[in-house]
Amino acid sequence: MAREEILNPESLEAERQTLDFLRPSRLEDFIGQNELKERLNIMLEAAKQRGQTLDHLLFAGPPGLGKTTLARIVANHLDTNLHITAGPVLERSGDLAAMLTRLEAGDVLFIDEIHRLSRPVEEILYPAIEEFRIDIVLGQGPSARLQSLNIEPFTLIAATTRTSLITGPLRDRFGLAERLDYYSASDLELIVSRAAKVLEIDITKEAAGEIGKRARGTPRIANRLLRRVRDFAETKTSTKKPDGKTDEKANRKTSTEIDKETAMSGLEMFGMDNIGLDKVDISILDAICNKYGGGPVGLGTLAIAVGEPAETVEFVYEPFLIQQGLLTRTPKGRMATERSWKHLGLSAPASFQQQIDL
Ligand SMILES: Nc1ncnc2c1ncn2[C@@H]1O[C@H](COP(=O)(O)OP(=O)(O)OP(=O)(O)O)[C@@H](O)[C@H]1O
Ligand SMILES: [Mg+2]
Repeated sequence: MAREEILNPESLEAERQTLDFLRPSRLEDFIGQNELKERLNIMLEAAKQRGQTLDHLLFAGPPGLGKTTLARIVANHLDTNLHITAGPVLERSGDLAAMLTRLEAGDVLFIDEIHRLSRPVEEILYPAIEEFRIDIVLGQGPSARLQSLNIEPFTLIAATTRTSLITGPLRDRFGLAERLDYYSASDLELIVSRAAKVLEIDITKEAAGEIGKRARGTPRIANRLLRRVRDFAETKTSTKKPDGKTDEKANRKTSTEIDKETAMSGLEMFGMDNIGLDKVDISILDAICNKYGGGPVGLGTLAIAVGEPAETVEFVYEPFLIQQGLLTRTPKGRMATERSWKHLGLSAPASFQQQIDL
């Protein structure tokens, strides 16, 4: 299964609907990220008690960890309207101004990929979130004038895959700026079990654990692998009629519990290895170790070697590899680690050993 497919479920409408269906809608059902949940819960309770608008929130973290889900949960808890947009969609400042003037008091505005807002759009956004005011330029040339417009108090929830944005002046504009981390294997097991219940898939605890272990710490991937394992299990147990055609009716009846062994075979078939690395992850490690002697190799060169855009390598693949101790970033470039050599079934050359000993 290609990473693109895993990370862009939007490519299929039916797929997207299943994902929406799987999203927990209450904070209690959102598994893991306990500290974040605790802080968010306190803020929600306090805002409700005071009858005030919730402070703005910023969520940063790699794709598929639950940023959009959290925005929906917050709007749900506040019982307000949720307006969803994204940085690249808001091309002109007028686009954002139009959205802001339509907001009702207490509404939640979710801006995904906030790091991709253009400068003019940012200039509209900042006074809006600080003072609930927008400044728009009316007319052109010498007769142009600035008009200030008050808007209803609202809550901005911003999401970004650039965790570096969680520091610096941007974070100061938010009441809460949180980084979502990769999920532990035990949290992912719970996420898989919960999703299986929602989708009425019969699965053992061990099988759910196996899927969780290979989901790269990411709920979206865990949910997707669960559905692929289900597909695999269904075809494996499918009953063929004597004419060689599949007996659909019998199939539904014979659907059996997914056990660990079935899960493992299914996962292998879809190209996830025993620690959740897929083909692109492996080709990144393979390039660093085998083509560049363990590194250091620059991001641009590495991206070309694996045939992926540099941004995808940096923000989608690398964070997980770094977290797993399979790659390090140095001022001179990316480097392999002892663990990466081992994972590829190779031993690090002596020259590489010397480099890391230095
Ligand atoms: N903590 C969680 N508990 C249960 N399910 C979760 C959790 N976090 C995410 N999910 C599931 O994972 C899927 C992906 O989550 P979501 O779309 O919120 O990720 P995201 O961080 O917004 O990703 P992106 O950066 O790509 O927009 C959702 O369909 C949701 O069902
Ligand atoms: Mg999202």
